[in-house]
Amino acid sequence: MRWLGLGLVCGVLSVAAAFTAQGQQAAAPQGQQTTPDGETPAKYSIKVVMEKVHKAGLQKKVLDGEATQEDKLALLDYYVSLAETHPPQGSLEGWREKANAVVVAAAKVAVGRDDGTQLLKASTNCAACHKEHKPPTN
Ligand code: HEC
Repeated sequence: MRWLGLGLVCGVLSVAAAFTAQGQQAAAPQGQQTTPDGETPAKYSIKVVMEKVHKAGLQKKVLDGEATQEDKLALLDYYVSLAETHPPQGSLEGWREKANAVVVAAAKVAVGRDDGTQLLKASTNCAACHKEHKPPTN
């Protein structure tokens, strides 16, 4: 019984700690690689996603139907990171809209939905997104 009580106290403490940590991160300054709501930092920066997914050809491999299930999940993981970042240029709303469409498309590909590949192709239009969100100096 004593151990059970201790376990409960630990549980309550860790929940409290999680809330506190969230509150602190919400105060993080804009422009960092955090979610639009200022929560967890993105796992991958936009530049890393562009390198690994677009330059190295992971997205193309998936579009060409040559990707393994592991590739598809890796793609989804990279794209989820986009939704966790702030754009270096352009409106946050526009960025979220584009990133969310890309995430949904990659998720549909990962679970094998018929329209996944087509949605992925449409939502990862390089020029359309760069025009709005990629700084000219890059
Ligand atoms: C959802 C929006 C979006 C889409 C879609 C997108 N990009 Fe990007 N890309 C960006 C942003 C934003 C940057 C600038 C990142 C920065 O400077 O931090 C960028 C930068 C890049 C860079 C430069 C990376 C660096 O190291 O500076 C390359 C290369 C790139 N994108 C390739 C592509 C290609 C190829 C495609 C299409 C297959 C594509 N991107 C689609 C948003 C996008």
